Order: sequence, then C-alpha cells, then structure tokens
Amino acid sequence: MPPSESEKQIQEAQSHLGTIIRDLYNQMATTYEDHLRDDCQYTLPATVAKLLAPIAKTHTNFLELAVGPGNIGKAIAEAGIDLRLTGADFSENMLRMIDCPLYHSRIQLDATHPMPFEDNTFDGALFILLMEHITDPLLVFQQVYPVIRRGGLLLFTFMPSQSENVEMLEHESTLISHPREMVHRELASAGFTLLKEYPLDTYIHGDEWRVHNLILALKE
Ligand SMILES: C[S@@+](CC[C@H](N)C(=O)[O-])C[C@H]1O[C@@H](n2cnc3c(N)ncnc32)[C@H](O)[C@@H]1O
Repeated sequence: MPPSESEKQIQEAQSHLGTIIRDLYNQMATTYEDHLRDDCQYTLPATVAKLLAPIAKTHTNFLELAVGPGNIGKAIAEAGIDLRLTGADFSENMLRMIDCPLYHSRIQLDATHPMPFEDNTFDGALFILLMEHITDPLLVFQQVYPVIRRGGLLLFTFMPSQSENVEMLEHESTLISHPREMVHRELASAGFTLLKEYPLDTYIHGDEWRVHNLILALKE
C-alpha cells in the first residue's frame, strides 16, 4: 500500500531531523564516550549488560542500532558475556570510534530505512538512546522487524513524555519524548509483544537524572 499523506510528512520530518542529528554526532564522536561516562554518570551500559546475561544463553547474534562509539558492547564484554554484535549507526565518525571485539562488523545505515540484511538474520536487536532522535518509533520498529527471527528480542529505550503528545524536549539538541501508550501501541502494530518495561535513571543532565524506559519485547 502506498504511504498516506501523513506518513509521507512524518518521513520527511524524520529525514530533515536526521541530517541535523548526524552532523551533531559526527562532530562530538571523539569526546562522546568520555563525556557520558565522566560528566553524565551514564548507567545504561551496565544495566543492559546485566539484563542480557541470562538472555545470552539462547540469543547470541544481535544487531545494535545507534551503536555510537560502542559503549553498550564494552559493558557487555566487561561483564564476560559473549555476544556477536553488528554495530550500526548513521554517523561514520561514531562507527570509527568503536573499539570492542564483540563487534564483528560495523555498518553505516539509517535506522528508519530498509536494512541491508537477509530476513531473520538476528536473534535480536538493541537500540539504546535512539528513540529520542526519531519522530515516530514505528519507523524503526517496521524496519527492524523482518531482520529478527521469530522468538527474537528487542531491547530499547525511549524517553516517556509527560503528556499524551510527542514532545520536543530541547530545541538545541533536538531530543524527542514519546507517550508510553504510543510506543506500546506501535510496538504491537509492528508485530512485537511487550515482555517487560523498566523506568530508569539513565544519565545526569544539569542537576537532574534523566529518565528513560527500557523495554524488552519479543517477536513471536
Ligand atoms: C545518544 S547516542 C547513543 C549511543 C549508544 N547507543 C549509547 O548508548 O552509548 C545516539 C546515537 O544514535 C545515532 N543515530 C541517531 N539517529 C539515528 C538513525 N536514524 N539511524 C542510525 N543512527 C542514528 C547517532 O549517530 C548516535 O551515535
């Protein structure tokens, strides 16, 4: 079915935003990992590693979208978990910063576009701190669905909005928050079943901890 007018508008908005965001991340790639660890007390890598420890017994081959400099993979390796990761990001400078043996390949791609993998390639997909750069989560859920096998998992974060609307949090860094109900509805409409949801303090911004919800979902 051809996209509706509103679907086209959402894609166009995403495409404009994506250009700005890719430039921003390309510029901050060399300092980003140190900044998150030292200035922001970033907690998600360790949390994700802990959650993946039991899962790694049955699911080993993961696609990590918005991999950045590979913070998540490093924490997984430090926890002694042996996963095979494909790191994907649209910032070429971020991909160059990856220095972790769990990443068997790295690939430049936009997570809102069709992906260059065979169907059912992966046991699961991770995307941590991606959704705040995406106008509509469905754009990513739909692209990632075919490349995950049945019984495969999704592990991702989003910033829950304080209202029933999609909100732009900070104009200068273009952060987007989404209503929980919207994320749940779109996850289901893309074909995933929500298994667990954890609201977490993830990093310090100014004087406050920022909250993200971490979701574990299943492709049945
Ligand atoms: C906040 S960083 C998170 C990096 C890593 N996941 C972590 O937790 O440390 C967001 C990353 O998402 C990437 N990104 C943003 N929008 C993207 C898109 N549409 N497709 C692919 N990568 C994207 C950026 O280039 C950046 O590397």
